[in-house]
Amino acid sequence: MNTSRRLSFSGRQVTAEVFANARDLRLDGPSIVLNAGVTDVLAGECPRKPIHPLCSTLLTGTRVDGADLLVVLRTPSGSASRPADIVTEPGWRLLGDILGGATDVTGGRPFDPKTPLWRNSQDTVGRIAFDPAHLLGEAAAPGTPEPFDVKVNLWFAPAGTDCFIHKRHDFIEVHTQILGTGRMQKFREQDHSTLYEDVVMSPGWTTPQPFCGIGPDGGFHYPWHQYHADTDCVWLAVEYHRTTTPGDSS
Ligand SMILES: [Fe+2]
Repeated sequence: MNTSRRLSFSGRQVTAEVFANARDLRLDGPSIVLNAGVTDVLAGECPRKPIHPLCSTLLTGTRVDGADLLVVLRTPSGSASRPADIVTEPGWRLLGDILGGATDVTGGRPFDPKTPLWRNSQDTVGRIAFDPAHLLGEAAAPGTPEPFDVKVNLWFAPAGTDCFIHKRHDFIEVHTQILGTGRMQKFREQDHSTLYEDVVMSPGWTTPQPFCGIGPDGGFHYPWHQYHADTDCVWLAVEYHRTTTPGDSS
């Protein structure tokens, strides 16, 4: 018997639940299924193919064999969804208001607090252990696993929004598109003219690799990057937070 927990930000436009240790899970309606764990998830019909860790797909009327940590997102209004309406639901705040005066968030040009970028509350969906060097493709074989808390939250931005070029995070992040189409972008500098990669995002899609590597200090080092909304967009941030500092074995 599978049990799920409804996430704190689950609402009318986007419902969200998490399954831990799911087995033979039936998904009746269209569902964005995110493998938030670190082992492959087998899903769909024969020939069955894995949903790799930190990847997602859009499943309808099929099943998932087993998953350590699975986030399931649905958009009950389907094609009638109006993404901009989501910010009228409880819990949504403009990021500029959340930050208050603390707009120097990345050590470079400050965040413009009037940017129409909205966020809902963050929910911790589980704790998993993995070797970040292996997860990030920097080690061929997994080494000693470290514990990470997995935190998720929704974002909204209207069409045409540049959500801010930044590069400082103390966690591993990926993003899952839910409504609308956008792109995750990489830049050489904190300057739009230095764009060098676009990862196009459509519903059900997760950026296929975290953008970060591991620096000499053991921290996560990102290129300058941002989310750009081509249409009104809702997406999920998925963050893996260390529960201990690098080199701390206690
Ligand atoms: Fe980021």
